[in-house]
Amino acid sequence: MDERLRTNRINWNERTPIHARSAFYDVEGFKSGRITLDDIALGEVGNVSRKSLLHLQRHFGMDTMSWSRLGASATGVDFSETAIDLARSLDEELGLNVRFICSDVYDLPSILNEQFDIVFTSHGVLCWLPDLDEWGKVVSRLLKPGGTFYILEGHPMMNVFEESASGDLRPEHDYFHEELLLEGRRPSYAGSELIESPVYEWQHGLGEVVTALVGAGLRIEFLHEFPVSGYQVHSVMEQGDDGWWRFPERNDSFPQLFSIKATK
Ligand SMILES: C[S@@+](CC[C@H](N)C(=O)[O-])C[C@H]1O[C@@H](n2cnc3c(N)ncnc32)[C@H](O)[C@@H]1O
Repeated sequence: MDERLRTNRINWNERTPIHARSAFYDVEGFKSGRITLDDIALGEVGNVSRKSLLHLQRHFGMDTMSWSRLGASATGVDFSETAIDLARSLDEELGLNVRFICSDVYDLPSILNEQFDIVFTSHGVLCWLPDLDEWGKVVSRLLKPGGTFYILEGHPMMNVFEESASGDLRPEHDYFHEELLLEGRRPSYAGSELIESPVYEWQHGLGEVVTALVGAGLRIEFLHEFPVSGYQVHSVMEQGDDGWWRFPERNDSFPQLFSIKATK
């Protein structure tokens, strides 16, 4: 495994128990039957009943198990051993019969000799991948001919801005491509506990994402952009009754999420 991905795996092993205790992930609500998938993904993916679904970078499994609750035959993949252990124990406790595989996305084709009706991935996945062309090839290899790929992800435009101490947003990062090594104790997106271990992140512009999928032989059915975010990216953002976060002013003029549906 790439040394940078090894570093990131340590970081995700540290984050997992912190996330599992957070109000953001609300594990108890999930145990009581909550579907953790959001309304955008549910509406755009559509009916998954009796379909085989592979969920990439699935963290500790609640969205994958939600797809199972909705009738899919679901498999979840993540490279964090801690996340997969927690996913398996939740699955056993709830009797949902989901398969979890511990693997780096890039290694998956060598350990999973299958193809799926749906490959799904969402919310905070591409910034952990250094090479999107390779990722596109992995997605294509794991889809059946005629199968559907769906991604709902933070818009790359959101990563360009840093917030000053006074709350102003300044364009400080490269939109198109950037590798960052983040060090020092930092909060995660889910709650206030600090993470100690370093982490690498990669920025990919929207054109790079689309080109990786098309280059791997997929046909794009749609690319949608949304003026809402799944978490409070900047302190000025406010959460609506629908659960999505927005800027208080001119929110509708700024993309915060995108989704792509593509067919093999
Ligand atoms: C932000 S989380 C995804 C969140 C998920 N959608 C959710 O809401 O719980 C990103 C996940 O990607 C996983 N990950 C990062 N790089 C990976 C890689 N190269 N291969 C497999 N999993 C990876 C991390 O372990 C983490 O669980």
